[in-house]
Amino acid sequence: MSKRLNLILLGPPGAGKGTQAKRLQDKHGIAQISTGDMLRAEVAAGSEIGQRAKAIMESGALMPDDVIIDMLAGRIGQPDCANGFILDGFPRTVPQAEALDEMLTRKALELSAVIELAVDDAALVDRIAGRFTCSKCGTGYHDTFKPTAEAGVCDQCGSTEFVRRADDNRETVVARLEAYHRQTAPILPYYKAQGRLRSVDGMADMDTVTKDIESILDDVAQPARA
Ligand code: AP5
Repeated sequence: MSKRLNLILLGPPGAGKGTQAKRLQDKHGIAQISTGDMLRAEVAAGSEIGQRAKAIMESGALMPDDVIIDMLAGRIGQPDCANGFILDGFPRTVPQAEALDEMLTRKALELSAVIELAVDDAALVDRIAGRFTCSKCGTGYHDTFKPTAEAGVCDQCGSTEFVRRADDNRETVVARLEAYHRQTAPILPYYKAQGRLRSVDGMADMDTVTKDIESILDDVAQPARA
């Protein structure tokens, strides 16, 4: 029987949410929904939300809950979510978590698991400062932990153009970490009280983290919608 997986990946900036969400998307055919990527697309398009988001994201603060909740509401009903989804970067506040619960109830869906990537803050600045992405296909790399096989050439598509995020500098990372501890960490007890919170060691190497997440998924898979 195929599985429906409705997942949340939680963790501070640089914990590995995006890295693991892409692997889950490829393996399970479920949609990766990154509110950060959605906002960056709005910034690139120069939309009203994007113009608001640019300065907020570059300061390391969070966007207002109402804007993010509206943006996400339409996304989880799209066809690529038929087998489930992985939320990467949402919810980030208790009001966002409550709004998500309401959205899922209206759609008769349930969360399969909320998986925390537990990491030490000290490692995160180096992880983020070394991150870069292929501008053509979006494959993510790291100067030390995941370099390209041939220097300056994307392993996936051969492009030689790469980008680094505007908020991936040491000063902004400190502000993003502060926002995580103040505004996002309080959702851990929220999901613990629901009995959905699982935790993996995000300090392990990427393949070990993937393996640990997969063993949680073996426990929680639900039948797919007919
Ligand atoms: P967002 O885009 O969500 O960024 P983030 O949460 O800060 O997370 P990152 O994308 O930086 O890190 P990640 O955990 O995905 O790590 P990655 O896998 O890339 O949000 C950006 C901004 O948008 C926010 O600051 C806010 O302003 C706004 N925003 C977004 N959502 C919002 C919301 N819901 N509400 C309000 N505002 C919102 O890994 C990092 C690096 O480490 C990579 O180079 C990777 O190769 C490497 N790496 C990964 N795993 C490992 C490992 N196990 N070992 C060694 N290296 C590793």
